[in-house]
Amino acid sequence: MSVIDEIKARIDIVDLVSETVQLRHSGKNYTGFCPFHSNTRTPAFAVFPDSGTWRCFGQCNEGGDIFGFMMKRESCDFSEALRILADKAGVQLKPVTVEEQVAAEENEHLRTLLEEAVTYYRHHLLNSVEGEQALEYLKERGLDDATLEAFGIGYAPQGWEVFLSNFKSKGYTDIDLLDAGMVSERESGGLHDRFRHRIMFPIRDERGRMSGFGARIRDPEDVPKFLNSPQTVLFDKGKLLYGLDRARKAIREMDQVIIVEGYLDVIALHQAGFTNTVSPMGTALSEHQLNLLKRYTKRIVLALDPDAAGEKATMRGLEVARQALDKETEVVFDARGLLRYEARLQADIRVTTLPDGMDPDEVVKRDPQEWQKILEDAKPVVVHVMETLAASQDIDDPKVKEAIASQVLPLISDLPSAIERETYLQRLARLLRVNERALVLDGRRRISGRRSPRRTRQTAPIMEKKPVQAMSGYALEAHALGLLLRQPDLLYKIDRAMLQEGLSRLTISDFQHSDHQTILRLLQESLDQDMVEPLNFVMNNLSLPMMDVADDLLEKTKNLDINDDSVFEDLRRALLILRRSRARQEVDYLGFLMIEAQEKGDIKVTQYRQSMVEHTQVLRYLDHALANYFDQSIQNRL
Ligand code: UTP
Ligand code: MN
Repeated sequence: MSVIDEIKARIDIVDLVSETVQLRHSGKNYTGFCPFHSNTRTPAFAVFPDSGTWRCFGQCNEGGDIFGFMMKRESCDFSEALRILADKAGVQLKPVTVEEQVAAEENEHLRTLLEEAVTYYRHHLLNSVEGEQALEYLKERGLDDATLEAFGIGYAPQGWEVFLSNFKSKGYTDIDLLDAGMVSERESGGLHDRFRHRIMFPIRDERGRMSGFGARIRDPEDVPKFLNSPQTVLFDKGKLLYGLDRARKAIREMDQVIIVEGYLDVIALHQAGFTNTVSPMGTALSEHQLNLLKRYTKRIVLALDPDAAGEKATMRGLEVARQALDKETEVVFDARGLLRYEARLQADIRVTTLPDGMDPDEVVKRDPQEWQKILEDAKPVVVHVMETLAASQDIDDPKVKEAIASQVLPLISDLPSAIERETYLQRLARLLRVNERALVLDGRRRISGRRSPRRTRQTAPIMEKKPVQAMSGYALEAHALGLLLRQPDLLYKIDRAMLQEGLSRLTISDFQHSDHQTILRLLQESLDQDMVEPLNFVMNNLSLPMMDVADDLLEKTKNLDINDDSVFEDLRRALLILRRSRARQEVDYLGFLMIEAQEKGDIKVTQYRQSMVEHTQVLRYLDHALANYFDQSIQNRL
């Protein structure tokens, strides 16, 4: 039994949820008011003791197991939730190795050093002559004392060894200072302060732990304008988002995040009350950063300055591009990358363009309402790309039309929703003033050349197998996931089969258990990269306890030959059954909500009825698909 199984066995979902939610019996299940969105009228939150899962049928429309609940309740990631629940269950997590223990202590030491650096720089901002000038500048920029304190803004004094000697006298070694990224090595040997005569922005991780600094010049002639901490064990600028520690609560509450480009923009926007704002640190947005955000919201607004927006929209590659930034190579999201991400996570990504030559901090200083309006006007990625490409071009020129169509059509054809594809095609046709059919035909030609990835397969003899229809929810998930893990590119095949049947692609919400969701997410990510073999990619990105789960999944499916048609059909069946049980849950619960609302005379009753009709149709459809493609016997299961 993996630790995860053990924790699941020891913690009762009803007990756990009851810590913060008042639940009452409803048949064999429990209901209450969802703790994750504000509602006081209908108890749209349900707990299912049998499967050990929960779900909000209201606004959140999310669910999961005990880990998912904890992740959402504490706004933390899986490993943090694991730690909390292991503690609660009295389960010992695998003892960390001696090396890991030493590394953790080392990190703590460096974080303490950085915290002391924050205090040091603040002291210089508030108590030195030069600091006074810096402070004056910050005030001119419109920042007040409370904001400066909240963000811990400081000033690094002139001189080459001021910080160095001060911190050595505090007992830190040269190695400490180098490891923390606070000093640089001279060519002649010896060390000097990395940050001199600069305004200092402490950069913290999403949990508020010190990671590094961003430093802006005071003198306009100095270069570079911004100097960040170098890459250290604590600071990886592709993996942090500035302001997230202060923004995460608001992001979750408002279910939306605003991404801007500069530190000062984040600070000014927070001061003006737009506290759901973060920024990357001079690099393009990375997948890692988006993954960091998706725990809090799937609604993302990118507020880019006009140059960057144009550049990003028209980026040639139209594949997730690899681009050199500050000598490091990292994955950059262009329009297509964003759209894929959006589809995979069922996210909503919008782009907004700022008035010419203005930064968000200037806009919000001029008129907070103008900023609000700009956010509201944010456009879906495809529309943004079309409009940016068309701006300042002669749309009547056939060559221009062709150039725009050839960049936008691949984006449209990638969209999973037929309605969206149709809508954007119409929009593009209108924009270019051409016949829609010409676009469609042209698009087909272009798309037919796309390759579909293939890899060599290993074969294994078939051993006895348990019929999927006899499996419980968890085992069913495990069976399907085990097969996908054995051969990740099966995901493509499954998605195609689903789409052919008129169903949407496989998503993580087809799975209810967080450990499975984590692995499926990594599987999907593994196919979007080509640096590492997919299975290795998944394994590399799993925490130790999760590796046990993955090993288990592989072990349990090791005797199944995925090239065997019946094994593949079984996989499809398992996934359909999972989706159907979700749909059934939905219908049952909506029925309950409807009666509830009827009794109370709540006007929501029509809305529930409508939803129930829709979900019943989905359910029928799934029943039908299962009956059509597979034997009748499973009809009566679940
Ligand atoms: P900007 O030059 O737009 O600066 O860079 P800003 O934040 O608007 O600052 P002000 O308003 O001129 O004072 C945007 C962001 O790009 C990164 C920084 O994160 C900065 O906040 N950057 C910029 C660098 O990392 N290095 C640079 O040399 C310049
Ligand atoms: Mn600016």
